[in-house]
Amino acid sequence: MEVLSLGYIGIESPAYAEWRSFGPDIFGLAIGEDGADGAVRLRMDDRAYRFAIHPGEIDQLSYIGWELRNSDAFEAGVKQLQDAGYDPVVGDQALADERKVQGVAHFRDPAGFRHEIFYSQTFMPGSFLPGKPSHGFVGDNLGIPHLVLFVPRVTPELKRFATEVMGFQLLAEYPIIAWNGKPGGPSFYRCNGRSHCIGYLGLEGHRGLGHICIEGKSLDDVGKAYDLVQRRHIPINLTLGRHALDTMVSFYCRTPSGFTIEFGWDGETINDESFVQQRPSDYEVWGHERGPGGLPLTVVPVED
Ligand SMILES: [Fe+2]
Repeated sequence: MEVLSLGYIGIESPAYAEWRSFGPDIFGLAIGEDGADGAVRLRMDDRAYRFAIHPGEIDQLSYIGWELRNSDAFEAGVKQLQDAGYDPVVGDQALADERKVQGVAHFRDPAGFRHEIFYSQTFMPGSFLPGKPSHGFVGDNLGIPHLVLFVPRVTPELKRFATEVMGFQLLAEYPIIAWNGKPGGPSFYRCNGRSHCIGYLGLEGHRGLGHICIEGKSLDDVGKAYDLVQRRHIPINLTLGRHALDTMVSFYCRTPSGFTIEFGWDGETINDESFVQQRPSDYEVWGHERGPGGLPLTVVPVED
């Protein structure tokens, strides 16, 4: 399968309504048309939406949407998932309309997270207006930068799912987790010009959504958001810093739905010709000290 980008992400949350102010006020995300169930949908570019926060009883990741090129690629993708034993379910028109795409199929990865493949998401050129005065986001065909999922273990089956089924390329594997020195460190995968689109991080006995990254077009927007987060006493998970891996200058803070958002700038773009598997000697060039936010609240203990 050739995934073009991380196209949309769905979350369930009792605090879904808080996103109507949190998304625009802190980051400059824009409000899109509400979902049929009242979901707050957030835009970061000319696509109809990128994030849908649905009403729900607990804070959790609901689905991850991967964009394929067209209907042919979609049909081939469904066939490949069937052949690999992932039992994809092709969504009906109601689901496609809800997602604002022309075709969608869903399935679960070996760790149990729901993924969707889709094609042809609704957009309108020139329609994006930031939710507060700011320079906007790096998106469009590069999609959402990435998300990181916590799993009890990054198993060989999970790695095969990422590379052989989804067609992602392995960007980097760290031998240990930075903050506890334990094995099961993250593996990061890329699907387009961004350095990575998904990371799986092995933390024994835990599972859930770690963080979602959004990328602004201006360092000032990131700096101003950082000021605002501190003034409002929103828990910071990682202070401002620059990652070695994707060169993103960013900070991480807790959202109303318990997971973490990384708001960054200056993420590296790499292409297929210059791409090599990477192994920085440290996670960080500077900064990114751990803050009081701690582990994302959506990363929960699981029996394993
Ligand atoms: Fe990140």
